[in-house]
Amino acid sequence: MNRLQGKVAIVTGAAGGQGSAEAKLFAAEGAKVVLTDVSEAGVLKVAAEIQELGGEALALVHDVSSEQEWKNVISQTVNHFGALNILVNNAGIYAIEGIEDTSLEVWEKLQEINTRSVFLGMKYAIPEMRKAGGGSIINVSSIFGIIGSGRATAYTATKGAIRSLSKTVAVELAKDEIRVNSIHPGIIATPMIKTLLEDPVQLKLRVEATPLPRLGKPEDIAYGALFLASDESSFVTGTELIIDGGYSAR
Ligand SMILES: NC(=O)c1ccc[n+]([C@@H]2O[C@H](COP(=O)([O-])OP(=O)(O)OC[C@H]3O[C@@H](n4cnc5c(N)ncnc54)[C@H](O)[C@@H]3O)[C@@H](O)[C@H]2O)c1
Repeated sequence: MNRLQGKVAIVTGAAGGQGSAEAKLFAAEGAKVVLTDVSEAGVLKVAAEIQELGGEALALVHDVSSEQEWKNVISQTVNHFGALNILVNNAGIYAIEGIEDTSLEVWEKLQEINTRSVFLGMKYAIPEMRKAGGGSIINVSSIFGIIGSGRATAYTATKGAIRSLSKTVAVELAKDEIRVNSIHPGIIATPMIKTLLEDPVQLKLRVEATPLPRLGKPEDIAYGALFLASDESSFVTGTELIIDGGYSAR
């Protein structure tokens, strides 16, 4: 129940999918949670659900690719809850196209939302975590940050960058007791994979290719994030937590 008691966490992309599952689980475990997303209605709804269950939550509209908005989110978090201990860089977007069909615009948009966001979030969270005596940063990559997807060129590149960025910052910040880890979800049933969910043939193929033969649930990822956010993982930094039902182990 109290694995995050007294801690303050920011979860980006918390209006739905994995981010809302993480925000709800963190709040249930005693954290004060700041939920951010471009969808105002979405974060307000999830924050209200947390508050109805007696949790503490603050919803903020936030485009993770904006430096100014990151500065505002960090300062509003500290003004409202007094500190910052945990950051989950979860927000992201997907593009399925292979290399020849990927426009420069799509490439750059994914770099901005998926990768620049992680850089900015860490950069502005670190001073507050240092003041708090340490912290935990969890960057959401993908199994396609480790293995090739055979398509989704721009997306795969952003997720690979998140993996190595997490490791180098982990080494740099260990002296400050700030831990940095990446999570690598497999195929998780969220709005991001709507097209796949609506394609029974492709869906069956993916499930059959998964040793634990099902789709992942947002909660499967949230439990991994909870471990990395909590003091239970105090000797864990620079690692990559794969949660994919064994898909990438084949
Ligand atoms: N679903 C999967 O199969 C899967 C697999 C591997 C990795 N991931 C990663 O997990 C993370 C969460 O994805 P999800 O599956 O919950 O998808 P999702 O589409 O359900 O959620 C993503 C959230 O990010 C928000 N968002 C989009 N652009 C934003 C921006 N510029 N600023 C702030 N918020 C923004 C969206 O509004 C949405 O609420 C992403 O980083 C994604 O790449 C997902």
